Amino acid sequence: MNSSISPNPKTPLTTNNLSFISLLLFTNLLTLFFSSSFYSSSCTPTSYSTTKTTTTTTPSAAANANAIVDNYNNDDNDNNNNNDNDIPPEFLAATSPQRLPLGFNRNFESDTVHPPVPDACTLFPSLLLRYMTYPVNGSCPDDELLSQKLLLKGCEPLPRRRCRPASPPNFPPPLPYPSTLWTTPSDDSVVWTAYTCKSYACLVNRARSPNFDDCKDCFDLNGREKHRWTIKQSNGLDFSIDDVLATRVRGSVRIGLDIGGGVATFAVRMRERNVTILTTSMNLNGPFNTFIASRGVIPLYLSIFQRLPFFDNTLDIVHSMHVLSNWIPEKMLNFLLFDVYRVLRPGGLFWLDHFFCVGEQLEEVYGPMIMSVGFKKIKWVVGRKLDRPHLKEFYLSALLEKPYKNSW
Ligand SMILES: *[C@@H]1O[C@H](CO)[C@@H](O)[C@H](O)[C@H]1NC(C)=O
Ligand SMILES: *[C@@H]1O[C@H](CO)[C@@H](O)[C@H](O)[C@H]1NC(C)=O
Repeated sequence: MNSSISPNPKTPLTTNNLSFISLLLFTNLLTLFFSSSFYSSSCTPTSYSTTKTTTTTTPSAAANANAIVDNYNNDDNDNNNNNDNDIPPEFLAATSPQRLPLGFNRNFESDTVHPPVPDACTLFPSLLLRYMTYPVNGSCPDDELLSQKLLLKGCEPLPRRRCRPASPPNFPPPLPYPSTLWTTPSDDSVVWTAYTCKSYACLVNRARSPNFDDCKDCFDLNGREKHRWTIKQSNGLDFSIDDVLATRVRGSVRIGLDIGGGVATFAVRMRERNVTILTTSMNLNGPFNTFIASRGVIPLYLSIFQRLPFFDNTLDIVHSMHVLSNWIPEKMLNFLLFDVYRVLRPGGLFWLDHFFCVGEQLEEVYGPMIMSVGFKKIKWVVGRKLDRPHLKEFYLSALLEKPYKNSW
């Protein structure tokens, strides 16, 4: 058996099939379709075996390659109408239900497992096609930008692939603690293809470039990063880590999460205080995840739209600076705040650092939304952003506690 969906892998799925499958996805009938295909195939011990889907060996793959070129500059128009694309066989292999070799499992209450398939993956067929077209058991395409684009469009988690990503040819061994925390890593630790900059020196120097605004001085460990959360600013919005930790019983803040944490200076500072923080980050215009790992703290490649991968009532602290703001659709932000509440343990801290909004938004929308989740206020500081006074821009920095006893 070569493919768990198509008895003959040489028969490409046509656009009609694609629309059909999209329709099935939306009507939740996909499971049935996959299941019946699965069960109509014979089950042999080689069911893990790799369907060869290189861009050079099959006629359908050659057609796909043309579609890839055609769609290269067209991604934002990518949707589910009239794209002459096939559902990549590897996507079907990665996402179709699989029967458990040992039969019925009481934990799953089933003899079959269903890999997660976000709906949004199939909404962007040409991106998906490019992402899932590769030589099975070979090298992955060098496609970090493409993968991130697909992920940010909602195809998260990305489907697994059966290929090996390129690694830097001269990868150096990491530095030991504590020097690893504040040393700019070697350029040899990064695959630079996806970035405008091709070295850390370039990333550090871009602080002085007008062409970047997002986190542009983040990679400069001797610049602003060096003093973040260590000194109080007069505006009151910058709490210090030591002041925040002092609100709890000494040593009782041990584990936590920083959402959208840039180069993870927060996690590094906390590690110096024996607190373990995981940092979520995308790789927008820079190798953030690689850099964070090089500093010796843990990067999580996770967008802010994904359910937090922690169990209820587990973390001592969740921090987020500049990321949670009025650019996030209100309903998503509301779900996100409930998710933060969920993963915090009773007595856990939510440090909402520099939440940005304008005009009356804070009083009318965000203040009530944040407090309606059930947090208790420890600190709540609102400050005017002064560089563009006519715009009435505000920051909120808040230290919130998940109550020990819920009142509902
Ligand atoms: C997969 O690739 C590895 C490394 O090239 C090779 O040793 C192995 O035999 C391959 N496995 C299969 C099933 O082709
Ligand atoms: C962190 O832990 C180490 C080893 O247990 C200890 O020696 C050190 O004093 C601690 N540092 C802080 C800031 O608590």
